[in-house]
Amino acid sequence: MGITRFASKLKRSIKKRLPGYEPIPGNKAIKVEAAEDVPFLVPTAKLHEIFDSADVAEVTMLPRLIRSHKWAMPEHELLTLGALTKILQPKLVVEFGTFMGGSTLSMAANMPADGKIVTIDLDPAARSTHVHGMGVGLSQFDVGCLFRGTRYASMIEQRFANTVEFHDRDLLDAADLVFVDADHTYEFAKRDTRTAMTFVKSTGTILWHDYTWEPKNPECVGVTKTVNEFWEQFGCCSQIAGTRFALYTPQLAGRQSAAA
Ligand SMILES: C[S@@+](CC[C@H](N)C(=O)[O-])C[C@H]1O[C@@H](n2cnc3c(N)ncnc32)[C@H](O)[C@@H]1O
Repeated sequence: MGITRFASKLKRSIKKRLPGYEPIPGNKAIKVEAAEDVPFLVPTAKLHEIFDSADVAEVTMLPRLIRSHKWAMPEHELLTLGALTKILQPKLVVEFGTFMGGSTLSMAANMPADGKIVTIDLDPAARSTHVHGMGVGLSQFDVGCLFRGTRYASMIEQRFANTVEFHDRDLLDAADLVFVDADHTYEFAKRDTRTAMTFVKSTGTILWHDYTWEPKNPECVGVTKTVNEFWEQFGCCSQIAGTRFALYTPQLAGRQSAAA
């Protein structure tokens, strides 16, 4: 049996076993857009060109953040994330995609002491049957292990959910920063971005990881496509030079129209 047929059979059987489970419509799995058809449209700027104070931001980094897994963020991106958090000083951050908690810890260590992060990842018990943009099932790891036991842990609220089904009325229009870094395929990235838009304040920032990516991770083209579409509709987006981040911030409004 081919992998596509196997995935769709398994999805049907999961649906039977879990009433209320609705797979993403049209998710036939294992289908990734042709990466070469999707250009990187969003303009690039150095962090200090977006935020004047970025060059002198002093960032807290913990040695446990030294990269130890291919999904974990490399140090220069953690530094950028820390600097961005230091500049924005968000009181509430929502993160899609906790993984081991490296990005969560980097943000927590650089935000105000009374700030809070809500970080969401799949329930470990659901990982083996989770239907995602590339098929079925994900590997296991200790979600959030990097921030556990640090003095920042009390600022972090861990939630287990599928981000495309996640909803919390208390987060509506409440977040100063939403970081989107869960499933990178198009339908998921698009839905996560829609949810991010409902959580972010009108003055807030949305940050995406993997707007740019390496050929070995072509599924990330879903993020590129999503952010391109967002940028075409709302503007105020920038790639952050030297990283795979793209952000939306209303603070770019004056600058981009002045530059145009
Ligand atoms: C690239 S990793 C996140 C890395 C993390 N932000 C960091 O920098 O350390 C992506 C994470 O998203 C999670 N994920 C993928 N699809 C998800 C979904 N639909 N809902 C919730 N979490 C999801 C994965 O389990 C994984 O932990």
